[in-house]
Amino acid sequence: MTTNSIGLDTKKTKEIASELNTLLANFQIYYQNLRGIHWNIKGKRFFDLHPKFEELYTDANLKVDEIAERVLTLGATPLHTFEDYSKGAKVPVGKNISEDEKAVQLIVDSLSELLKIERQILNMSGEANDEGTNSMMSDFITEQEKTVWMMKAWLGESI
Ligand SMILES: [Fe+2]
Repeated sequence: MTTNSIGLDTKKTKEIASELNTLLANFQIYYQNLRGIHWNIKGKRFFDLHPKFEELYTDANLKVDEIAERVLTLGATPLHTFEDYSKGAKVPVGKNISEDEKAVQLIVDSLSELLKIERQILNMSGEANDEGTNSMMSDFITEQEKTVWMMKAWLGESI
């Protein structure tokens, strides 16, 4: 086994970075979904939801940067074009959504996909003793599970 300068298996690190790029692409779709619903939301709950969606996209924006910088830390190049983001998209693309329940459902559906990718990365990073990626994924998963619970509660549904 060859190791890189941060002490991780070179081959496994490459695979983790590639999956982190998939997460990055999907996070950008999620971010743009949040922008879309922040802009287009209509109705009596506007003054609650418009700032709530802003809070979420601000957080997503920070996470996008963390993921990209982790990709660089692992020696790869973060995806940065819309073309690459669309190619790797698993998160559903929300278009022209202005109804509150559809907007919140889009968040739930987006986060469900992100959680799948993050769990996959968590398995890989655990196996590679990549604690940096592992703890990042743990934090993301914990936060997003909580957000899904809150969004489902808002929808009047259980998890
Ligand atoms: Fe705004």
